[in-house]
Amino acid sequence: MRTACITGASSGIGEEFAKQLAAKHYNLILVARSADKLDALAKKLRKKYAVSCEVIPCDLAQEDECLRLIRILKKRDLYLFINNAGFGDIGYFHETAQDKDLQMINVNVRALHLLAKEILADFVAKNRGYLLNVASIAGLMNGGPLMATYYATKSYVVSLTSSIAQELKMEGSDVHVSALCPGPVATNFDDVAGVSFSLKSISAARCVEVCLKQMNRGKLIIVPGFTSRLGAMLCHLAPRSLQLVVAAHAQGKKLS
Ligand SMILES: NC(=O)c1ccc[n+]([C@@H]2O[C@H](COP(=O)([O-])OP(=O)(O)OC[C@H]3O[C@@H](n4cnc5c(N)ncnc54)[C@H](OP(=O)(O)O)[C@@H]3O)[C@@H](O)[C@H]2O)c1
Repeated sequence: MRTACITGASSGIGEEFAKQLAAKHYNLILVARSADKLDALAKKLRKKYAVSCEVIPCDLAQEDECLRLIRILKKRDLYLFINNAGFGDIGYFHETAQDKDLQMINVNVRALHLLAKEILADFVAKNRGYLLNVASIAGLMNGGPLMATYYATKSYVVSLTSSIAQELKMEGSDVHVSALCPGPVATNFDDVAGVSFSLKSISAARCVEVCLKQMNRGKLIIVPGFTSRLGAMLCHLAPRSLQLVVAAHAQGKKLS
């Protein structure tokens, strides 16, 4: 049986990965701050699918906590690592709280980077394993006025993942890496970010189902949902100035 570790497994997309991977008989390691939610999920999945579920409560915004997590994971035989934990915020860049921005950079970028490097090194040494970084459709765009920090963090994830994929190809490695880039997904994300999405969202279940299928095909950039895929394609074609106007319009609707 393979083992998967999922960060941000206490709700939304991460929780759904846990459920669908347990159904595929993966043993799980669940990470987030909410120990009570992780314990409840682990109990449910152990009972329903007879898989092993280890719970590691961890605040990924704290570097010492990330390092503690890495030390634990180095002792496990992982096949799949899902760097999923993350959050957003909305508002004019000069008005949003600096502290929240930095926490977001710590979780969405710094923790993801620390974990990706350490886990990937183990995968490469074994020449097996799959690293999935959860980005966003925001990471495929040239910027996101009114969610500037969030878009910037997700661009980092897409860029990092794409470069790693090419390096692995150059080395002829059997290790795989993908970036999941969803559009709106119905989770707690909106409440945490203080936004209400103006676009129609897909369910976390659908998002994860599509992602796991595309991972089987070795797809690097995974954009679930027809509307989001179309949006991502149009982004490539539209000039930067137009993209910024459209993104500002969409985010502005969330503000109101
Ligand atoms: N929902 C969307 O529309 C959407 C679209 C594109 C991309 N995404 C991305 O998908 C990922 C998952 O988000 P979601 O939509 O599932 O939102 P969610 O329901 O709010 O889940 C976020 C998860 O991240 C964890 N997390 C947040 N801060 C953390 C911290 N400091 N340390 C450890 N864990 C932390 C949360 O757990 P605790 O609070 O228990 O710590 C929770 O499990 C994020 O990276 C997000 O950017 C979401």
